[in-house]
Amino acid sequence: MSYYRYFQLDKEPFSTSPDPRFLYRSLSHISALQRLEIAIRLRRGLMVILGDVGTGKTTLSRALLQNFSGDDNYIFHIVLDPEYRSEFQFLSSLTRMFKVKPRFRSTLDYREAIEQYLFKKGVEENKTIVLIIDEGQKLTPSFLEILRIFLNYETNEYKLLQLVIFAQMELLPKIKRIHNFMDRICLKYILNPLDEQESCEMIKYRLGQAGLNGNKQIFTHGAQRLVYQATQGYPRRIIHLCHNAMEHAIMLDKSEIDESLIQYLITNEVL
Ligand SMILES: Nc1ncnc2c1ncn2[C@@H]1O[C@H](COP(=O)(O)OP(=O)(O)O)[C@@H](O)[C@H]1O
Ligand SMILES: [Mg+2]
Repeated sequence: MSYYRYFQLDKEPFSTSPDPRFLYRSLSHISALQRLEIAIRLRRGLMVILGDVGTGKTTLSRALLQNFSGDDNYIFHIVLDPEYRSEFQFLSSLTRMFKVKPRFRSTLDYREAIEQYLFKKGVEENKTIVLIIDEGQKLTPSFLEILRIFLNYETNEYKLLQLVIFAQMELLPKIKRIHNFMDRICLKYILNPLDEQESCEMIKYRLGQAGLNGNKQIFTHGAQRLVYQATQGYPRRIIHLCHNAMEHAIMLDKSEIDESLIQYLITNEVL
């Protein structure tokens, strides 16, 4: 039997997959999403969302995609992990993604083919092309330079490529070193961990999404507070701890998770 069935849930509440349906919309997450949406609709160019590991960047990127799904004026492309051996490999993966065929195998031709694609879609067909890059801290200076060139393609009114980079904080000093990159950022947003109230709300929200009946509780208030203290409000850590707590509750044949169970997990480092 799946563990969540023991708690009469329909789904796993604390899975680590970046499912936007499980994204608790904290003020910070709502604000980041709204601003991204506006900047994309206005075709402002470059947006950067920064945050430590496990603050919800990848999940936010999925929520962004979801908000635009069904609107065929927007074409989204997503790079999950920008690790390439060379500039050329980076460019060729972009051309494959955009389904363009450069004339010759040179960096220049690849760049030109991408420029033509952006022009055709963006101007002739009036579509907005959005490139999302996750794990952006892995972008090397030369990949950033390529992206900077793409950001130069513009009409009098708007940029032809909307670039949304989700990255850990290490990206910031890297982009500062690239001439003219910082001034191109139209939206820079830092995702911080949740505060205590938001952490508690997030636990309840995820349980609700997994099918927990309205006024039922699994985690006592004390347990939720202790989860916050142990995780400092980092969503990924909250999820691990809550997942482990539910598994332990089943082993102990408990239907409620209280402070002592969380304390036991913390003491035994089952985080
Ligand atoms: N606001 C949130 N509400 C609910 N779950 C969240 C939230 N933010 C992050 N998570 C969850 O935490 C885990 C880590 O999030 P992820 O998006 O992978 O973080 P990052 O990409 O910043 O490392 C995922 O399972 C995700 O669903
Ligand atoms: Mg991520």
